[in-house]
Amino acid sequence: MGNDAFLKERLKLDEQVMGIADKNIKRFYNLDSTVYKNGVLSALTKEMLGLVSSLVLRCEDCIRYHINQCFNLGISDEELSEIFSVGLIVGGSIVIPHLRKATGTWNELKVNAKNNFDKKSTLTFLQNQIDIITKSSDSKEKKMQEIVVLLDRFIPYYDWTGFYLSDSEQKKLVLGKFVGEPTDHKIIPFGKGICGQSAETKEVTLVDDVLAEENYLACSLKVKSEIVVPILSDTNIFLGELDIDSHKKEAFTQEDEIFLKEICQKIAKIF
Ligand code: SME
Repeated sequence: MGNDAFLKERLKLDEQVMGIADKNIKRFYNLDSTVYKNGVLSALTKEMLGLVSSLVLRCEDCIRYHINQCFNLGISDEELSEIFSVGLIVGGSIVIPHLRKATGTWNELKVNAKNNFDKKSTLTFLQNQIDIITKSSDSKEKKMQEIVVLLDRFIPYYDWTGFYLSDSEQKKLVLGKFVGEPTDHKIIPFGKGICGQSAETKEVTLVDDVLAEENYLACSLKVKSEIVVPILSDTNIFLGELDIDSHKKEAFTQEDEIFLKEICQKIAKIF
């Protein structure tokens, strides 16, 4: 996903390099991809390091590539800004033209993610990215942030995406990481609203039209439909839930439900 023309061209040229590559070049290429995988440092941290180094070295293609990887692993705008600051302070003002282009690339990625939305391929791509995130060494909180950023970024009709965590003793839900408008519902008793229903039943609650739902806690007048997917342990203990609001009526299909259930299984492993 991302800057398709650039990535296609990169792949095409790499194939040509492989056509003439000796063992040493092939070994180096192999290192270049394995070095960025999850290790003691998460794949995401390594991509940040790759981006800073590329900024300082002022390699246009490398910056573009790492920006793309950072985008696909759920780095937020605020994090990107701090990465740019480090690159700028180390590299000096000569980095500024590269910051300009890098910001352009970032914004282009955002527009492309929404405009080129293809449900099947996007959901498969997100499964893969969330797999990388959940298996990384990042903290539980950080992983949850990366996941909500990705869902919000790549699925155009997910207009509020957030986690509620279970406080089983007090029988209430506590708001966790989210992307979207701030909500008053930071604490929700089990049983109350759509979120509270899933906490009690441990089932998915899908509401096609929130105005027709009696047990509903309104966050914003723009919200038209909502899905809540429980996060359950292997022994069926309720750990929390993923809550998504849409500004479209009947936004969520069975495909969304299957996808979200699968990712909640992966998320359960980070608790
Ligand atoms: N609408 C939810 C409350 C949470 S907000 O959507 C963020 C509910 O009825 O439980």
